[in-house]
Amino acid sequence: MQAEVLNNHDIKVLITGASRGIGLSIATLFKEYGYSVITPTRSELDLSDVGSVRNYVSLHTNDISILINNAGINPLQGILDITYEDYMEVFQTNLFSVLELIKWCVPFWQKKLNGHVINISSIWGSISKPKRLLYGATKSALNNITKNLALELGEYNVLVNAIAPGFINTELTRLNNSFAELEKIKQQIPLKRLAEPLEVAKLAFFLGTQNSFITGQTIHIDGGYICQ
Ligand SMILES: NC(=O)c1ccc[n+]([C@@H]2O[C@H](COP(=O)([O-])OP(=O)(O)OC[C@H]3O[C@@H](n4cnc5c(N)ncnc54)[C@H](OP(=O)(O)O)[C@@H]3O)[C@@H](O)[C@H]2O)c1
Repeated sequence: MQAEVLNNHDIKVLITGASRGIGLSIATLFKEYGYSVITPTRSELDLSDVGSVRNYVSLHTNDISILINNAGINPLQGILDITYEDYMEVFQTNLFSVLELIKWCVPFWQKKLNGHVINISSIWGSISKPKRLLYGATKSALNNITKNLALELGEYNVLVNAIAPGFINTELTRLNNSFAELEKIKQQIPLKRLAEPLEVAKLAFFLGTQNSFITGQTIHIDGGYICQ
C-alpha cells in the first residue's frame, strides 16, 4: 500500500470546481490515495472567462494525467428569459472551457500514451426538464464530445468518459429545488433517496485509476431515475 501511495504522488489530477460539492468529494478521495491533486480556485481559473482559461494554461506546465472537468453552472431559465450573454456564459463555463483544458492536456498524453478525461455531465443531458434549456444543451454536448474524443484519442490510450449524475445532495441541488420538491423527487427515484457526493466521487476514482477499457461512455449515476 505504501509503495502504491508513493507512486500515486507522481500522478497529477486536475479537478475543476473542487471548492465544494461533487468536486470537493472527488478531490478528497484522490488525495486520500496519495495523488497530486490540483484544484484551482475561481480566482486562479475562471472557466466563464476565456482570458482566464488561456492565461491558466499558458502559465502552467501540462503534465496532468487525469483531467476531471467537474465545474458547472445551472441557471434556471426559460427561453424568454435567456439573453445572448447567458448563452455565452453557460456554454463557456460548461463546455468551451472543457475543450480548452482537454486540448492543453493532449500533447502530454500523446507523449505518455496514457491519459484520462472524466467529464461531469448530468441526467439533463439525456432527458429534459423545463428551465434546464442551456444547462441540458451543454451537458448533451459534453456527452457528444466525450464520444468524439474517445474516437480521436483512442490510439494514444486516452480514455474519455462522462459521468451523468441525477440528484446529488449538494448546494446546487438545494439551490434549484425547494425542500418540498426534493421530498417529492426522492419518491420518484427508484432508490428513494438522493446520492451523496462521495458516491459520484467513487465512480470518478474508478474511471481515473482502475479503468483500462471503458471509453466514450456516459455513465448515469441516478438511482435509476432515467429508467422510468
Ligand atoms: N448536484 C447535482 O445534483 C448534480 C447533478 C447532475 C450534475 N451535476 C454536475 O456536477 C458538477 C458539480 O456539481 P455540484 O452540485 O457539486 O456543484 P456546486 O456545489 O454548485 O459547485 C460548483 C463548483 O463549480 C465551480 N464553478 C462554478 N463556476 C465556475 C467558474 N466560472 N470558474 C471556475 N469554477 C466555477 C464552483 O466554484 P466557486 O466556489 O468559485 O463558486 C464550485 O466549486 C457540475 O458540473 C454539475 O452540473 C450536479
